[in-house]
Order: sequence, then C-alpha cells, then structure tokens
Amino acid sequence: MLQGQVDYDRIAASYDRRFAHGGLSGPASALSELISDMRAKRILEVGCGTGHWLESLADSSGQLYGLDLSAAMLGQAQQRDKRFHLTRGRAGQLPFPDASFDLVFCINAIHHFQQQQRFVREAKRLLRSGGALAVIGMDPRCDLSRWYIYDYFEGTYETDLVRFPSWGTVLEWMAASGFEQAKWQLVEQILDNKQGRAVLDDPFLQKEACSQLALLTNEAYATGVRQIEAAIQAAEARGENLKFPTDLFLAMLVGRVHGKAVVPARNP
Ligand SMILES: C[S@@+](CC[C@H](N)C(=O)[O-])C[C@H]1O[C@@H](n2cnc3c(N)ncnc32)[C@H](O)[C@@H]1O
Repeated sequence: MLQGQVDYDRIAASYDRRFAHGGLSGPASALSELISDMRAKRILEVGCGTGHWLESLADSSGQLYGLDLSAAMLGQAQQRDKRFHLTRGRAGQLPFPDASFDLVFCINAIHHFQQQQRFVREAKRLLRSGGALAVIGMDPRCDLSRWYIYDYFEGTYETDLVRFPSWGTVLEWMAASGFEQAKWQLVEQILDNKQGRAVLDDPFLQKEACSQLALLTNEAYATGVRQIEAAIQAAEARGENLKFPTDLFLAMLVGRVHGKAVVPARNP
C-alpha cells in the first residue's frame, strides 16, 4: 500500500501549490522573532525544499543558506531567489564546518530524514556559541488534532506515528546532544473544516499535495477517495452535510547552544 520515500524531484515543479492560498504566517513570525532576538547572521534551513520559508526571512539581515536532498527542489529555490546559498546534501551529514551558523532550522521536514537524531547532533556541531536549532512541525500524537485524511486513507496515521518523532523525543535529542533550555512553543493552528462535497476540491486531497498521500500507491489513494465519496453520498441520503475536519498544530522546538552570541561590531 505504501511506497518508500516521497520523490521530491518528481513533484518539485508543483510543490508550491500548497502555498497558493498564502501559506501560514505563524512559523515565519516565530522564526523572524528568534532571528532578531539572537541577532542571527548566518542561517541554515535543512530540508529547505523550494525555499518558501527562506523567502519569508529575506527581510532579515542574515545570510540565508538552504540544504536539501532533492536537486529539483533546490532548483525551484534558486529560481525563487538567486541570493540563497544552496547545497545538495543529507540532514544526517551536513557538509559545513563546525561552528559556522547562528541558527539552523528545519520546518515540516524532519519526518523525511532517515537519520533524524543524527541531524540534531549535526546541527549542534554546526552552531556557534549562543546559537540555536529550531525544529518546526506537527506531532500526529497531539490529542487535540484531527485530520480527515487519517480517517479515510488506511494506514496513513500509523505510518505517521513511525515517521514523525514526537515533540518530546526531539526535545530529548536536543538535550542529549548538549543543547540547553530545549523549549516548546505552539506556532500555528491549521484549521479548515470542509463540509460535504466541498472536500473534493481541497487542494490537500490531491495525490501529491501532502506526503501522507504521496506515499500511497495509486490504488490505495483511489480507495480512500472512493470512501470519501461514498460517505458523502450516504450522508446526503440522510439529509446531512458531512464534516471533514482539519485541525492540526505546528510547534517550534528550540534548543540553545551555551554561551553568548558573538555580535559583530556595529559600524560607528
Ligand atoms: C515536505 S518538504 C518540506 C520543504 C520545506 N521545508 C517546506 O516546508 O516547504 C521535505 C523536504 O525534505 C527534503 N529531504 C528529505 N530527506 C532529506 C534528507 N535526508 N536531507 C535533506 N533533505 C531531505 C525533501 O527533498 C523535501 O524538499
């Protein structure tokens, strides 16, 4: 029913459709605040994809670096902004010298990394004194969340329990790697309740709009869509408008590296 990994090279050209309705403001605001608090100058996003989040930070005075495994995703990012410093590589083996960044962040990507804990250790190695690692994403274990995709596409929830580290686990990895003050902060609630047939136009119901569906075989995906259609029909026959809830939470987990940030001298 499942395919191994999402092929981002294949879907790179259409990936940004997910941001067509403006995207989410919470993660960008939380990152901007962190950058300005820390006065971070060299900033790296690991798993940067098409550079959507790097672009949201373009007003910060930092130099923006992105790393991703997919050459095609990086190609999209470079088209977005020629000033991004982009590198192809793996999160578990970051090709940068020790103590070369002030902020390393990762958003909606850690669940794709094969070496998740090693990524946290690598981020620690890359960070300067006073630097920080920020990991932003959802935890499918969160009791408050609901997502109709999990209800209608068999196995997607169970697969996510395996792919996604819990928020607590990421904080433990940070502590084990020597980060201080590992903290949790809610940065976004994604709320979008579709009713009845309107769900069939949900952009996130497209096969490749989210990794939960992209990982399904075509047959498993088609079965899920048929189940949604059958549920709508049955509800209509009862005179009801069926609800398809999306209520997901994104948290930002921040680990700090001991020491004061070395703030470059200001020009007189
Ligand atoms: C869901 S996308 C997120 C992209 C971007 N952060 C965003 O939110 O739009 C996940 C990204 O992680 C990248 N990726 C997967 N495995 C990786 C790895 N081991 N190292 C670095 N990047 C990886 C994929 O190529 C893809 O671009």
